[in-house]
Amino acid sequence: MINRRFATPLAGILVGSSLLLVQPAAAAPQASQVWPQASQMWPRAEKKPVAEGYGGAVSTVDLDASEVALGVLREGGNAMDAAVAAAATLGVTEPYSAGLAGGGFVVYYDARRKKIHTIDGRETAPKAMGPASLEGIPFEEAVTSGLSAGVPGSVAQWELALRRFGTLSLRQALKPAIEVASKGFKVDQTFYDQTAANAARFKDFTSTAKLYLPGGAPPPVGSTFRNPELADTYRRLGRQGGEWLYGGSLGAEVVATVKKPPVTPGSTRNVRPGLMELPDLKAYRALERPPTKVTYKGMDVYGMAPPSSGGSTVGEALNILEALPKVGEHEYLEASRLSFADRGKYVGDIPNVPLGELLSDGFAKERACLIGERALTSPAAPGNPDGTYGPCAPAPSAEAAPSAPEGPETTHLVVTDRWGNVVAYNITIESTGGNGIVVPGRGFLLNNELTDFTFGPAPGDPNLPAPGKRPRSSMAPTIVLKDGRPLLALGSPGGSTIITTVLQILVNRWDLGMSLPEALAAPRATQRNTAQTQAEQGFIDRYGAELTARGHSLVLNPEIGAATAVEFLRHGKLQAVAEPTRRGGGSALVVSGRR
Ligand code: DON
Repeated sequence: MINRRFATPLAGILVGSSLLLVQPAAAAPQASQVWPQASQMWPRAEKKPVAEGYGGAVSTVDLDASEVALGVLREGGNAMDAAVAAAATLGVTEPYSAGLAGGGFVVYYDARRKKIHTIDGRETAPKAMGPASLEGIPFEEAVTSGLSAGVPGSVAQWELALRRFGTLSLRQALKPAIEVASKGFKVDQTFYDQTAANAARFKDFTSTAKLYLPGGAPPPVGSTFRNPELADTYRRLGRQGGEWLYGGSLGAEVVATVKKPPVTPGSTRNVRPGLMELPDLKAYRALERPPTKVTYKGMDVYGMAPPSSGGSTVGEALNILEALPKVGEHEYLEASRLSFADRGKYVGDIPNVPLGELLSDGFAKERACLIGERALTSPAAPGNPDGTYGPCAPAPSAEAAPSAPEGPETTHLVVTDRWGNVVAYNITIESTGGNGIVVPGRGFLLNNELTDFTFGPAPGDPNLPAPGKRPRSSMAPTIVLKDGRPLLALGSPGGSTIITTVLQILVNRWDLGMSLPEALAAPRATQRNTAQTQAEQGFIDRYGAELTARGHSLVLNPEIGAATAVEFLRHGKLQAVAEPTRRGGGSALVVSGRR
């Protein structure tokens, strides 16, 4: 989305590492694994939504991030190296969606061991946060506050991801992002619009106004935006490692900012201070977790387990669809409605999520038999995933579920390498612009991920805050295997619409006969157990009359999601796909057009 051209080729960014790369996670690397010299530059890429070829592929929302990932792949790095380098770059060029003070989830296919892994880099609540800490606080007030800042997970996740599956050090992986932050990128319309939409709160913080409202206004479209303070932060992070944040002096600066946000003198905003302390940062760990898995029409669909609801909700909906005699738009919406009812009751960062039962065929059949010719009434009640399943009884309706508007914040990227490793990576700082507060002198925004908790009072809700707890996420990085081999990897931003976007793309691709580019471009709708189904105009135009006749109530949502995906075609051919138009369109690239 940002049409910047590097002053120096990306190849040059990594010069100086003189590193002999080793590929521990897959087959042995090819001959020349030394970073190339600056003279070995390749032509600049074009921003386009579909690329087909061989030897590795990448899809992100942003040309710069895709180019960085491609550069790492071309220089012999593997998919995890490229994913971390691209994520750090998105922290520069997409700073309102991603950043080192945010969190995310990685789903990874290890080609050598033929195994799916996941890494949970979700933010945590500080120790001082309890079930009532957010009660009664207006949502909008929590959004822009110290209170909503979770203990950041991204840096720990990057370190763990590189240590377990990469070949680069954090210092090496941060180099391209440092270059982009120092040299700058061209501001495009989306960056301008996102800054302008945030201007009212950005101006209320001295540090944020200084960085993102230079001269009191958003940087104009076409200007070069540099972030030397972030470049310096990345440099020091590379040198000192994650300890600088997790208990060191950068951590102390984060805590100070959270506890006493740098509010602009004269601002009337009620900025609530946060509860984070240095020991909360010291205690943070990124975690490897077993993936969720369902088998859908002969394909193995792997996703992210709690604290994300992505894998369980996409998985349950697929199981429900598989239990139905046919799959079309009506069935897609109904399966999603029922899965969201179960998500709300059972899924959170708690020890007793009945994951196995939620993803069982027996439970899916019991839920599927509620789906008829006419739309169910929402809120539909949750089912009972207790292991004993019979013929379905009409479900009583439940209490109304809130239908929060969801924007396209957050981001998702997919990378695959020449060895066949695959990364699907969702990254977020939650709202566009996170909590709106830049850590003074450090060039990055804090997240407001703790607004993903249920504010309460809500007795029994699995997503109430607690000390050290991770807020329930909807992020759904997904990898599909067929006969043990990668077939598809995909994901999207969009809060809880992430789940429906991933589900709808899978349905479009596998049930409605679309190619992957068609499946991403097709108009979207999202039913999350709410009275109305949000839908893009194209969806309403195409299916509105038929669905309305069946009892659905469609309401316009102008844009849902911003997906990225890769499909593994025959004979080693890769098809990388990004959005053609949503959020300004994304960038798909392949290492080589030829075998
Ligand atoms: O974890 C989640 O599901 C959200 N915090 C992701 C944020 C997002 O996609 C922004 N969208 N509204």
